[in-house]
Amino acid sequence: MTTPIEGPSTPDIRSSADAASQTIDCRLKEERRFTPPSAFAERARVGLREEYEKLYRESLDDPEAFWRRETADLVFRKPWKTTLEWKLPHAAWFVGAELNITESCLDRHLAGPRKNKAAIIWEAETGEVVTLTYAQLHREVCALARGLRWLGVGAGDRVAIYMGMHPFAAVAMLACARVGAIHTVVFGGFAPEALRDRIADCRAKVVITQDAAWRRGKLIPLKRMVDDALASPAAASVDAVVVLRRLDATASLPQDFEPVTMMPERDHDWSDLCTKAKGETDEAAIVPSEHPLFILYTSGSTGQPKGVLHSSAGYLAGVHVTSKYVFDLREEDIYWCTADVGWVTGHSYIVYGPLSCGATCLMYEGAPNHPDWGRFWSIVERHGVTILYTAPTAIRAFMRAGREWPDRHDLSTLRLLGSVGEPINPEAWMWYRDAVGGNRCPVVDTWWQTETGSIMLVTLPGAVDAKPGSTGLPFFGVEPAIVDSNGMPVADNAGGLLVIKRPWPSMIRTVWGDDTRFHKQYFLEVGGVYVTGDGARRDSDGYYWVVGRVDDVLNVAGHRIGTAEIESALVSHPSVVEAAAVGRPDELKGQALVVFVTLRHGIETGPALASELAEHVGHCLGKFARPDTVRFADALPKTRSGKIMRRLLKDIAAGRASTGDLSTLEDLTVLSQLRDLQEGEG
Ligand code: PRX
Repeated sequence: MTTPIEGPSTPDIRSSADAASQTIDCRLKEERRFTPPSAFAERARVGLREEYEKLYRESLDDPEAFWRRETADLVFRKPWKTTLEWKLPHAAWFVGAELNITESCLDRHLAGPRKNKAAIIWEAETGEVVTLTYAQLHREVCALARGLRWLGVGAGDRVAIYMGMHPFAAVAMLACARVGAIHTVVFGGFAPEALRDRIADCRAKVVITQDAAWRRGKLIPLKRMVDDALASPAAASVDAVVVLRRLDATASLPQDFEPVTMMPERDHDWSDLCTKAKGETDEAAIVPSEHPLFILYTSGSTGQPKGVLHSSAGYLAGVHVTSKYVFDLREEDIYWCTADVGWVTGHSYIVYGPLSCGATCLMYEGAPNHPDWGRFWSIVERHGVTILYTAPTAIRAFMRAGREWPDRHDLSTLRLLGSVGEPINPEAWMWYRDAVGGNRCPVVDTWWQTETGSIMLVTLPGAVDAKPGSTGLPFFGVEPAIVDSNGMPVADNAGGLLVIKRPWPSMIRTVWGDDTRFHKQYFLEVGGVYVTGDGARRDSDGYYWVVGRVDDVLNVAGHRIGTAEIESALVSHPSVVEAAAVGRPDELKGQALVVFVTLRHGIETGPALASELAEHVGHCLGKFARPDTVRFADALPKTRSGKIMRRLLKDIAAGRASTGDLSTLEDLTVLSQLRDLQEGEG
């Protein structure tokens, strides 16, 4: 890919903070408040606001006592000596501890009644259901751990996982963790080029994949996509590929599906590998607390995606304690997080968090509307799901599809509804509570990020009143603040930047291979505190209302997309000279992706080229990143120093008048041309 066009090297947080305070949306007027349903609160782990306050205070005043007690059921082969060593920007938590996270997620459950309890219930898009008990999951993880050792994978080696929503994706992650390898799961919706870039960045030694996955009635040929990625010399670090046979050899497959081809020496059939590796040990590699557990690539405001690195003990503590309290997990729950394992929500709240609590997790392979909009509700009914954790974009899509879909099913088993990934608008919140939860279940909005590893802001379901559209109060150990761009606290109800003032166990440890970027991006903007990149306000009850990103990161249908990546993909097309990507408010997706492009001299604009460019972005990054609108322009609005003024483009994309300062705009005529263009298209 060519280098991205020039953009601000760091988010322009001064104007962004102002923008955040201006953007405070209709939620400002939201005054509804819902007390925890009493039937829920009576049985909840934390059933009173005062109990929440007490635990919260303890978590800040005496973190040692808090974390020792709250992690007492986890397996540490050696206890920690020091709770936190903090040398900005590097935190080391639970120093001196030794562990292997899989012993907390698997081995510890085998000694008691959880041994034969379902750990994962998987429903394929095609309807097949597979259940893995804790004992079976442990067996599969051990088998693949031996396989990885047979391939020469050891502590610290990187392994890329490129799979669909299959329980063996969780097996792959846990097997890596078992041998101390660092996994990097690449969302199966990413294009081969994006997979290749991630493999190249962390120099992965092995790729674990599957023949294909079902999505909306079509087969995604994941193994073939791995072959494409590995054809590039940039991915030369990979010397082995492990292939899960997800497809039933006897099933009738679409005619256009090409059978998987295996490259001798490099490619290994998953089950053959496990058979070959029987002589290897499956002992868990015991690692120090800060040993890296995984890298997860996520979009930033500049350049290529960054590899967010998480550690072992701190991450485990964070996801364990949040799973326990936020979802109020009980032994009999059937817990369903609808995220994909390729995103952080899947890591923390499908795999590590719930399994560390011994929960039963449901996993679903396919699309929410396959074969129709009743699929989710049919899953809830058939499996007796008690806790549902999904994203506002899905809720809005269900709202649009109509209430008759949930109404056709018995959803009475549900007792808690969670939301994550983007701001939830009060209408969607209310619909979720009513149409899905029968006005019986607490709705729990959870704010967090790939970098935070676990939930940071939340209304604890049994203890704290919920306000539709607010992400509530800080979780234990989290000290947030709303500040202006100089780091000064702002008054209640005034918008500003959301920062976190002290380290927390599951925080990002560094950006893989770029510690300077890590330091600069997260800690240098506002005097040594962690800058989230989100704008928010806190109301006079202490509730946080997250507005959205204040940097050049978009949130399209819950997918985090960097404008720089989109622009970089566009300018790699031979017809494009320059490109700028911005978000436009969208009722369904939260934000829609609008791109402005200028073309090489003599190239004709038109709908055919617009769809070719959208297709090209999909090809480079993955279909989910395809622009919704492509606009052609003669020039893009720039400052005198040559930076594209995205703020103006955002206004134009949203069809609103620009209110900001135009004094730095180099050529005012560009703006009016772009406006004309919009009207012309409109
Ligand atoms: O802008 C915030 C938004 O999603 C961003 C983090 O994206 P990602 O790292 O992909 O992780 C998503 C899943 C945790 C945040 O910076 N975001 C996430 N949850 C919420 C949210 N915005 C508002 N409300 C939320 N509950």
